[in-house]
Amino acid sequence: MRQVRRAVPDARPLRSDDAATGGSNAPPARQQEEKMDTLSRKVARVVVPQMVVEGAGVKLKRSIATGTLDYLDPFLLFDHFGSSNPDDYLAGFPMHPHRGIETVTYMLAGDVQHRDSIGNSGSIGAGDVQWMTSGRGILHEEMPRPRDGQMAGFQLWVNLPSSLKMTKPRYQEVPSHLIPEISREDGTRIRVIAGTLDRTHGAVTDIAADPTYLDVSVPPERNLTLPCPRGHTAFAYVFEGEGQFGPTADGPEKTLSHPRLLVFADGDTVEVCTGTSPVRFLLVSGNPLHEPIARYGPFVMNTREEIEQALRDLREGTFVRPD
Ligand code: CO
Repeated sequence: MRQVRRAVPDARPLRSDDAATGGSNAPPARQQEEKMDTLSRKVARVVVPQMVVEGAGVKLKRSIATGTLDYLDPFLLFDHFGSSNPDDYLAGFPMHPHRGIETVTYMLAGDVQHRDSIGNSGSIGAGDVQWMTSGRGILHEEMPRPRDGQMAGFQLWVNLPSSLKMTKPRYQEVPSHLIPEISREDGTRIRVIAGTLDRTHGAVTDIAADPTYLDVSVPPERNLTLPCPRGHTAFAYVFEGEGQFGPTADGPEKTLSHPRLLVFADGDTVEVCTGTSPVRFLLVSGNPLHEPIARYGPFVMNTREEIEQALRDLREGTFVRPD
């Protein structure tokens, strides 16, 4: 692993010794307390994505919902798909059900054409996001198609609390041009898909897990500190370039190259710095539900009985219910 140097002073608040050299006025006690309370999240775990074949024969890289990482409450699955060979994905995901979860599709290139049992159809293109709340039940088809020879994107599954597992299905489809992008002076760009950053509100709102979903591009030789709510589960998925994640003040620094999923320990911020390469990653966080999980393929409920009910509903044709 190549060592990466911090080239720019980071943006953390002054330490008390810095403040002491800055003049005779000591910082107010309250301010000191706040500084001491801010914790930079350490990297608790590094996950190497596994190649899996899903749907009717789509090759993809899976980092959550594997033998190594079953789930990361409230996140149930994370897939990175994309290939320059259409044979790897054209078979797609023919009609299949979901219950009890939300599926989040974020595209980098190409399209996913979709249609469902409640009359929606359309296409999710590069930079677009579809946040689908399956609630009590939806049947849908997702078919990846190349554009200019390219097709790539991500699918995340977010759990629903028991109180919302049987809610009415809902979609939030946001085209790329409506996703806010923050451009900082140092060249860092952050697309705010969900959550709030620098008073910029994400495109997707009113999700039970109170998630943050950011697409972050950092140029070479930069330091970046992003807020990440204490108590929320958080992970980064590095999909281009390489960078160092976590506090640099303690422990050995690690440079991580794509593709890797990093699980963070608790804290208030996530730090990243780059060396000679840029890095691009998703930063995703959400409030854990702490509820029992019973999962069977595309159904994720709280009990085995609820899974059996889902299968019964599917058999008896009562899975998709009108209002
Ligand atoms: Co699906």
